[in-house]
Amino acid sequence: MPNEIVVGRLKEDFEKFGSEATAYLGKHIVGKGDEAYLANKIMMDLLRPHLILICGKRGTGKSYFGGVIAEEIAMLPEKHRNNLTTVMIDTMGIYWSMKLPNEEQVVLLDQWGLKPTGLKDRVKVYVPFQQKKDYEDAGIPVDFGISVPPHMFSAEEWSTAFNLPQTNPLAIGLQKAVNSLQKRDEKFSIDDLIYKIKDDSSIDTHTKSALESMLTVANSWGVFGDEGVKTEEIMKPGMINVFDVSRLRSTEAWSVRNLLVALIAKDVYYKRVMARKQEELARVGEIKLKQRFPMVWMLIDEAHNFIPADKETVSTAPLLTIVKQGREPGVSLVPMTQMPNKIHPEVVSQADMIISHRLTSKNDLDALHASMQTYLMEDVWKYIEGLPKWRGSSIILDDNSERIFQMQTRPRLTWHAGESASAVNT
Ligand SMILES: Nc1ncnc2c1ncn2[C@@H]1O[C@H](COP(=O)(O)OP(=O)(O)OP(=O)(O)O)[C@@H](O)[C@H]1O
Ligand SMILES: [Mg+2]
Repeated sequence: MPNEIVVGRLKEDFEKFGSEATAYLGKHIVGKGDEAYLANKIMMDLLRPHLILICGKRGTGKSYFGGVIAEEIAMLPEKHRNNLTTVMIDTMGIYWSMKLPNEEQVVLLDQWGLKPTGLKDRVKVYVPFQQKKDYEDAGIPVDFGISVPPHMFSAEEWSTAFNLPQTNPLAIGLQKAVNSLQKRDEKFSIDDLIYKIKDDSSIDTHTKSALESMLTVANSWGVFGDEGVKTEEIMKPGMINVFDVSRLRSTEAWSVRNLLVALIAKDVYYKRVMARKQEELARVGEIKLKQRFPMVWMLIDEAHNFIPADKETVSTAPLLTIVKQGREPGVSLVPMTQMPNKIHPEVVSQADMIISHRLTSKNDLDALHASMQTYLMEDVWKYIEGLPKWRGSSIILDDNSERIFQMQTRPRLTWHAGESASAVNT
């Protein structure tokens, strides 16, 4: 279509495919203040993997925007949809509602010529298995219970998960036990781990009892078990897989979330690396593809908690792998954050698109600068400052075309439970 702006698409892809397999993100905002109006559609490339940072201060429309990307992927024509799948890390409990139509913004949708549409059959909700009943009692439709199998983490990862420096006696004791259980090449539980530690005469009694109480607490988090994260489900094409980790209440909630995200990120990356090899062999006629694993879009809300700037969490390394090498096997990443200066700088510098809503502080803008050498800072600030006060307005920096656009995100077709949740909480 003429008059559409396509971002993130390579020139040769544009010449070949035009705006086929793109996501309709919103409309270009032209003019300033009261004079501003909405012009051309802004479409985003979905043929290739991307790293897209979404930032902006509280309530500016980041999570809502993440939902728009997921909707667009799930509603692509079948031939494109079958190559993609989406994973959403939902820390706020706001994405299960994508199963339902957005009846709340019918008038707005109508102004945009759109209709509320639920994606009941495309959205799958995963929650920690021990919380399944809590969710169901709260009226939230759950599809799968998931858990963290302890044997899936290395000795070093265990120490990181518990925030133990590698030289700490607890870390050393824990690593020894994990290593010796890993050697057996069998699954093991937290109880097996405790037993192993108790049984080790080289660990002093003080360390033993500290480790025992630490692991007993971890066992009570209710996330360890054999279920795993169901990668075989995630790898079904055209789905929106929502991992709702919002109801973890323990003080260790973030450790648990980080463990889950680490598992998902590692699994997805590994599966795609293997799939890519198969795809390449099939392309040169060496083999016939038996099964197709779709490319994955991983969207992470409140991402500064999973890949922070100032410390290493257990999800840092797996996510950094995707940040640095995800494009080759076809894993896209969309971190969303209020504070781009709190997220690992590599995320900002590797991003090929940045969607920035209004920002709170100059620090945040400075953090963005790491990736925006090509743009003049004054320009970026001017564009952000000049945004109309509407919810869902942002600037989009497209590394591909080295252009900046002001954009109004299109209204969501599916229901965004965010607002009601915050109305209840405040
Ligand atoms: N493009 C849009 N069109 C219409 N309404 C929008 C749009 N974007 C956001 N909103 C409204 O603004 C509310 C807040 O948006 P959202 O939950 O995405 O904020 P957020 O930036 O993620 O905030 P927080 O940092 O608190 O998580 C939404 O519930 C929705 O009602
Ligand atoms: Mg949000």
